[in-house]
Amino acid sequence: MTTRPLPDRSGVPAPRDTRLDPYVGSYAERTHQMSASAVRALFAVANRPEVVSLAGGMPNLADLPLDAIGDTVGRLIVEQGQRAMQYGSGQGEPLLREQICEVMAVEGIAASPDDVLVSVGSQQGLTLLTQIFCDPGDVVLCEAPSYVGALGVFRTYQTEVSHVAMDDHGLDPVALQEAITAGRAAGRRIKFLYTIPNFHNPAGISQTMQRRQQIQQICAEAGILIVEDNPYGLLGFDRDPVPAIRSLDSDGVVYLGTFSKTFAPGFRIGWVLAPHAIKEKLVLAQESATLCPPIFSQYTVSAYLQDYDWRGQIKKFNALYRERRDAMLAGLEAHLPASTSWTRPEGGFFVWLTIPPELDAEAMLPRAVSARVAYVPGNAFYADGLGTRHIRLSYCLPTPEAIIEGTRRLGEVMNHELSINEVFANPRSQHSVQPYEAPGPDQK
Ligand SMILES: Cc1ncc(COP(=O)(O)O)c(C=O)c1O
Repeated sequence: MTTRPLPDRSGVPAPRDTRLDPYVGSYAERTHQMSASAVRALFAVANRPEVVSLAGGMPNLADLPLDAIGDTVGRLIVEQGQRAMQYGSGQGEPLLREQICEVMAVEGIAASPDDVLVSVGSQQGLTLLTQIFCDPGDVVLCEAPSYVGALGVFRTYQTEVSHVAMDDHGLDPVALQEAITAGRAAGRRIKFLYTIPNFHNPAGISQTMQRRQQIQQICAEAGILIVEDNPYGLLGFDRDPVPAIRSLDSDGVVYLGTFSKTFAPGFRIGWVLAPHAIKEKLVLAQESATLCPPIFSQYTVSAYLQDYDWRGQIKKFNALYRERRDAMLAGLEAHLPASTSWTRPEGGFFVWLTIPPELDAEAMLPRAVSARVAYVPGNAFYADGLGTRHIRLSYCLPTPEAIIEGTRRLGEVMNHELSINEVFANPRSQHSVQPYEAPGPDQK
């Protein structure tokens, strides 16, 4: 496709400053919780080409067979355009729902297409679920840390997030039981547990099978619904997929899936597998939100699953991500201060750092961006502002060389911060601070 020059907009008035918003008193109360973080502002800078961004979590589409997908889309329009560009059903296209059941079977789930709702990414599935379950003040249990996009939804619906600790095997069952007991004793209405069992975003760790069973049992006994969000389950580097929590319990678990990481996020096709009554409510919510999920995207994903070796494509993605994960772990080992630790993901996109107690990941970010490396500070993944001793790094998108260079820059910034700290903590010490100069724009 050729790119057209942008039209001349010199005669068009500039957008008005939204700080002068005349409707400021009219917005619904739930919008008061919505705010753009300082981190988001920094990302505009972080996206400059000279910055190595270890911040975003965008899938790497370099290995997709674009020509072949283009042929399929062309054929789809010519042969089925009248149908593929029409409105569709609120629940989603029957053929795609069948195919989604085949994808879920890889993780041990036996499901009927009748219980599947197609959504606009799994993000919309999460939004619809929160909409149908949560009133203001209701409690949602989440791992500590948890996916920033989920926390945004929970905030928008004015829920209270109760964080539950994790260890190396995922969500801690003892902490889960305690959170349920404490919440109930305080008279709180706990609506569901939101959990990411595989290659957690941001923590990079996975629940063992035993852990899944314990979590399922605790929630079943307490009568608490589990929302299992599983975008990364098929992206394991050295292991076969572990059975989903949903494979243990079809009545107490709502499962969220997506094609964003196993195919491409631009189609915005995800799904919800839910017990029948919940699914019925979700279809009504979906119809009022979008009338129907995008039908052209559904046809395209269906054709992709039918025409391609999608399992082989996932293997290719995994080889690409594994190489980048290895580069990141090697870079961290080589360049980070000794008092830093990190998780070693066996799949997915993310590594979670625990930085020395003297450092604050949020305060350090502007310095890191000046040193041309970006990350997400850990407090973005907590509803309660904790987490500044953590950093999420993603390795999915940059080249292995850029990842190593990014870790080198990050190590330099951390060491510099530590040396300043040392001077302030011991003003009489002989410790000297190396002069630090932010690199000029021409330096690679
Ligand atoms: C844990 C988790 N859940 C849900 C999503 C949303 O994915 P999508 O809406 O593209 O399906 C993401 C995206 O990064 C994610 O990491």
